[in-house]
Amino acid sequence: MYDHFNRKINYLRVSVTDRCNLRCVYCMPPEGVKLMHHDDILRFHEILEVIRVAVELGVNKIRLTGGEPLVRRGIIDLVKDISTIRGIEDFSMTTNGILLDDFAVSLKEAGLQRVNISLDTLDAARYRQITRIGDLKQVLKGIDAAIDAGLQPVKLNCVIQSSPEEPDAVAVKEFATARGLEARFIYQMDLEKGIFKPVIGGEGGHCARCNRLRLTSNGLIKPCLFSNNGYSVRELGAREAILQAVAHKPASGSSSSTHRFYNIGG
Ligand code: 5AD
Ligand code: SF4
Repeated sequence: MYDHFNRKINYLRVSVTDRCNLRCVYCMPPEGVKLMHHDDILRFHEILEVIRVAVELGVNKIRLTGGEPLVRRGIIDLVKDISTIRGIEDFSMTTNGILLDDFAVSLKEAGLQRVNISLDTLDAARYRQITRIGDLKQVLKGIDAAIDAGLQPVKLNCVIQSSPEEPDAVAVKEFATARGLEARFIYQMDLEKGIFKPVIGGEGGHCARCNRLRLTSNGLIKPCLFSNNGYSVRELGAREAILQAVAHKPASGSSSSTHRFYNIGG
């Protein structure tokens, strides 16, 4: 699929839940968020249908996100079913890593290829501050579990405030290098104000070569993180929703007041 700006669209990011077991300060308000109504959340068969149709239309790269994808009940079954779809060349997940110690082996066996794990600091007290409730040790165990399970390459996502040279970021970089992992640095964004910069070491935020669509957990295909546009797969059917989203993909993002990270998955 090509959009109006001749960008090849081959990447679908699938948010499987708006729930999360953390409360990162830049992502969620402290009290947590009003969760979507259960009936509004796509069932696995619906997610699978969207992915199948997307792959028929030329998508070959799938990433599962959240919220936190590993808190969705039955996630391993979903991964198994997705991995049987022919035509997917890259199948990954973005996770906060808290549950990876339990899930890494099953994910690998179910056919997931690789993971990106969020890690903003290596200081346990700062980690608790940023995530409000997280235990750094649990994530570090998760990272080891992912490496041991062969979910390679393991990449670390590090949200930064102003520079990749700030102390937390430098520590994450050193940690990654020591283990042979890749680190990507993501400037903290503000979706409502439309404040975003390209990801350092990643593809995100480079509008001119953006190849992505997003599926939200309640079934909207979104052409851009920084846009209110969304096309309902339940109302339009998967094919039409995808085609509409591609047809309306903006040249570059402006702002989004309807979505926050916890329901669109970064
Ligand atoms: N700015 C930048 N990155 C964010 N993430 C969540 N909220 C923000 C934000 N406001 C990141 C997480 C994770 C990915 C899914 O999105 O840290 O790495
Ligand atoms: Fe959860 Fe990720 Fe949001 Fe943190 S950034 S609260 S881990 S969804």
